[in-house]
Amino acid sequence: MVVFDAQRVEATFPIAAGAAGFSILDGQRWLDWVWIHPFERGKGLAERAWRDLEQTYGPDFKIQPPLSPAMEAFLSHNDIAPERWRF
Ligand SMILES: CC(C)(COP(=O)(O)OP(=O)(O)OC[C@H]1O[C@@H](n2cnc3c(N)ncnc32)[C@H](O)[C@@H]1OP(=O)(O)O)[C@@H](O)C(=O)NCCC(=O)NCCS
Repeated sequence: MVVFDAQRVEATFPIAAGAAGFSILDGQRWLDWVWIHPFERGKGLAERAWRDLEQTYGPDFKIQPPLSPAMEAFLSHNDIAPERWRF
């Protein structure tokens, strides 16, 4: 599991604003779930996190269905290859 730091609130320590879970099945890495606190949504946090995730895990992990409408919109908006998330 990875935890995303908040962007909108600051403290002397990191504050978690979201998280994502991964698994590996038959050698394929899957993003199983992702969640961002409502207060931090719509501010680009997922986009910044996505860049870090692809840097860390490579650009080939797939996204486990079912997807929420918000996640479908996010993936379309970011031109994530459909073969990674449309099944
Ligand atoms: C889906 C989710 C991770 C997106 O995170 P986010 O930080 O709000 O996304 P961003 O701010 O980086 O959005 C980037 C782009 O994705 C698209 N997008 C993101 N959320 C959207 C929504 N609810 N409706 C329509 N488009 C959306 C937009 O094009 C957005 O760009 P814009 O703000 O300039 O229009 C977040 O809304 C969330 O945690 N939702 C609840 C849980 C969930 O649905 N998880 C996925 C389950 S499959």
